[in-house]
Amino acid sequence: MLQRDLSRAGAEKRTARRRALRRMTQMLSILFTASALIGWSLPALARPTIEELKARAVLDDYEANIVFGYNIVMQTNKYAGRYAGSSLSCTSCHLRGGTQPEGFPLNVAGVYPKWRAKNGVRNGIGMRIRDCFLYSLNGIMPPEESPEVLAVAAYVSYLSEGEVIGRPPKGWGVPTLPDTGADPNPPRGQAIYQRECVVCHGAKGEGQGPIPAVWGLNSYNAGAGLNNVQKLAGFIWANMPMGNERSLTHQEALDVAAFINLQYRAFDPREGRLKKLAERIYHRLTTIFGQANP
Ligand code: HEC
Ligand code: HEC
Repeated sequence: MLQRDLSRAGAEKRTARRRALRRMTQMLSILFTASALIGWSLPALARPTIEELKARAVLDDYEANIVFGYNIVMQTNKYAGRYAGSSLSCTSCHLRGGTQPEGFPLNVAGVYPKWRAKNGVRNGIGMRIRDCFLYSLNGIMPPEESPEVLAVAAYVSYLSEGEVIGRPPKGWGVPTLPDTGADPNPPRGQAIYQRECVVCHGAKGEGQGPIPAVWGLNSYNAGAGLNNVQKLAGFIWANMPMGNERSLTHQEALDVAAFINLQYRAFDPREGRLKKLAERIYHRLTTIFGQANP
């Protein structure tokens, strides 16, 4: 009798303990979810969308610069035409206005200034922006304090809100493809280009409408970051063909990148001013005489 009572009391105690434990885990999970929700919505609260900014009647100077910077990134020829040299916009490579992880996102304010092998000095964010005008856009390097550079820098700061200073953002740059064990093969790349890319980027790599040129004088020049097969392959693998991303194998991405970077494109401006001038004149003439994108 006593034995049974004791064991029943023990069982009740155990169920009570189990119930308390369950309640505690429930409480904890509610707390966890709530804090996660607050954590996620805080940056969202702090950062109005570009559309919200555009709809405001009055913008302070910083906000006005963000909107101008966004416009430059989305339509470079329209908003920074005096420094643009090709048909490309920043968003042609910094996808979705620089918001696409692994598509050269621009939420990078926290990692600058940074030492860079390309010019052997520490680059601030302004220098990085100016470099892309000169090489990736095959244009003219804007002055450090030009309204265009300052506006893009403001937009980069805006995109970087919530990132950890000093640490690269998630999805920085593009993926580095693993070694496939085989060299990139341009003839095979040409066949892939015909099959997967030609519908949008054209038989001469010339692009069409909002679709940018991948070679020729309207594309990036030979000094640009993308004129590197590894980097281009990482970009292509993660982001192209648009709408069917990540459908190529790593080897196919390398092959098509090698093919694209063997095609004609504008000189590296570091090779000389005279060469560059001759090229500009040639480009003007071919545009005037209706043979653009040779
Ligand atoms: C043809 C493609 C292309 C275009 C167009 C282009 N960029 Fe870039 N940009 C790159 C590449 C490639 C890098 C180097 C990323 C790396 O080193 O991994 C880069 C790097 C940058 C960086 C530093 C980002 C980082 O990850 O550290 C900034 C800022 C930048 N570009 C701004 C611009 C702006 C502003 C424009 C338009 C005026 C522009 N870019 C146009 C390809 C391009
Ligand atoms: C459905 C159309 C489409 C297809 C197919 C496509 N692209 Fe693109 N590609 C785009 C668009 C659009 C952009 C510019 C991004 C933007 O404006 O949002 C772009 C950008 C690029 C860029 C960077 C900008 C430049 O002009 O250099 C490269 C390189 C590129 N594509 C390579 C490829 C390759 C290689 C393939 C085939 C494997 C491919 N694309 C297939 C639409 C396409």
